[in-house]
Amino acid sequence: MKVGIIGGSGIYDPNLIENPKEKKVETPYGAVHLFIGRWQGEEIAFLPRHGIGHQVPPHFINYRGNISALKSLGVERILSTSAVGSLNSLMKPGDFVLLSQFIDFTKGRPTTFEGDRVVHVDMSEPYCPVLRAVLLEAAENKGYRLHPEGVYICTEGPRFETPAEIKAFRLLGADVVGMTNIPEVILAREAEICYASLAIVTNMAAGISSGRITAQEVNQIMNEVINKVKELFSFAIPQIPKTRTCFCKDALKGASP
Ligand code: HPA
Repeated sequence: MKVGIIGGSGIYDPNLIENPKEKKVETPYGAVHLFIGRWQGEEIAFLPRHGIGHQVPPHFINYRGNISALKSLGVERILSTSAVGSLNSLMKPGDFVLLSQFIDFTKGRPTTFEGDRVVHVDMSEPYCPVLRAVLLEAAENKGYRLHPEGVYICTEGPRFETPAEIKAFRLLGADVVGMTNIPEVILAREAEICYASLAIVTNMAAGISSGRITAQEVNQIMNEVINKVKELFSFAIPQIPKTRTCFCKDALKGASP
């Protein structure tokens, strides 16, 4: 199996893929529950990031288990979704943003599979350029509003941010804020898996939005865009080149002193 989908908030329905069968995968980090099914004839894995039924909050997600499980199934490409708040007035609720860079404001989540071995993976281009190009082409083909680049800032959560934090994050250069892309993107790179994330703006961030932010409004926007996400992935997956030519597959080369 070559492609895996990690569904974020609002994307938990295994029927996103055809004929999904639940599977428990044992990893050194614990058991991971995911679904194996098909997508236009190809075998594919679907992993709901927050667990089946959305019980696991961002800071308790077993990120190492999730990536390790996909790796053990032979997944070489991961397409993920991330619900985000927007700090950029051009990125509005319902818009897609193709993440291009990140800033890590999480607090002590394990960000490596390595124990004693020193590994410094390069993060010059954290998201796979090939997968990003494929998703960009899909959005152009479907005519969906997608911002081709966006800086994601990851907070620890599970609370939303204060307006003062959002003001500070804007000064740092962030476009969107979420709670889950770190360490997922880092671990995927360390596992030498290509990874891209389609962010969905669900709200303007704290202090930019007029009122309070609720988890319900996040879910409501996700429900509105879920069919578009499915269409984007349907277009994108068959376009992914069969052989990998990007640097993701060699991420560990030169990473150890
Ligand atoms: N902040 C953090 N995470 C989020 C937000 C937000 O405003 N919206 C959706 N996920």
